[in-house]
Amino acid sequence: MSARRILLIGYGAIAAELADALRQRGHTVATLLRADSRSRDRVPDDVAIVTSVQEAAAFAPELVVEAAGHAAVREVVPDCLSRGFPVLISSIGALHDKLLFEQLADIAGSHGGRLLLASGALGALDYIRAVSAADRLCVAYESRKPPAAWAAELRALGHDPDALASEVVLFEGTAREAAAAYPQNLNVAAALALAGPGFDQTRVAVICDPAARGNTHAVKAESEYGTMAITIANRPSPANPKSSWIVSRSLLAAIEQHFSPVAML
Ligand SMILES: NC(=O)c1ccc[n+]([C@@H]2O[C@H](COP(=O)([O-])OP(=O)(O)OC[C@H]3O[C@@H](n4cnc5c(N)ncnc54)[C@H](O)[C@@H]3O)[C@@H](O)[C@H]2O)c1
Repeated sequence: MSARRILLIGYGAIAAELADALRQRGHTVATLLRADSRSRDRVPDDVAIVTSVQEAAAFAPELVVEAAGHAAVREVVPDCLSRGFPVLISSIGALHDKLLFEQLADIAGSHGGRLLLASGALGALDYIRAVSAADRLCVAYESRKPPAAWAAELRALGHDPDALASEVVLFEGTAREAAAAYPQNLNVAAALALAGPGFDQTRVAVICDPAARGNTHAVKAESEYGTMAITIANRPSPANPKSSWIVSRSLLAAIEQHFSPVAML
């Protein structure tokens, strides 16, 4: 891939890992951060910092990549799309808000931009997309993480995270409810829902398991075309245990696909 100009929204764990990989490959990277962001101190000298989409436009990004959270999707992505930039978002859970999703899709469609959705910490979305129109489709997702990942939620339920003897089901419901309840953790369920039968038809279970090693995602799909079952066990990002390490690599792979003359869909 020839050298590109890429704007990252945010410069936290995922964006910093991604920026390192992009710079090593010769790309020019800038980051859009709030003026008071604590991440400013970690941005290397050769990564320009901008604080508004207007300022970002002067950088003339060929692609914008969001790795900043649901609020950034609401606050920054509409303006990027209305300037015709393609935007790859990792905080897909924000799209559980129907109005926001429709607004972003409309702006992208009418201004020549493109809203690109990252598969992030999950895989096999190609299969889910292929069966998404099946008559008898049933898609279920289960998240299983150790108590350390859910310490605050466990305490709120009266459990001691350090002394949990058996698993606790924290949530069961639809992907729409899950994305709203856990904005930092359930982007994966949102990606599955959007690839498949939608937010209200995708079943989600969130389990805290003292025997769990790492963050596991289990997906089952059944339809008239057959069955699919996968389990992915992700290691946490060294810089943020709430995010999986693989996410920055997944974004890098998506960026390479976006600019490549050959794409695997
Ligand atoms: N799709 C997936 O599989 C997946 C997996 C993990 C995380 N994520 C998403 O990626 C996001 C980033 O993860 P992280 O581990 O890098 O988080 P982090 O907390 O380490 O970093 C967040 C960064 O975003 C910046 N930021 C926050 N709000 C902003 C705004 N409105 N405008 C500009 N910058 C803003 C912060 O200053 C910080 O630099 C998460 O919030 C989550 O939504 C997606």
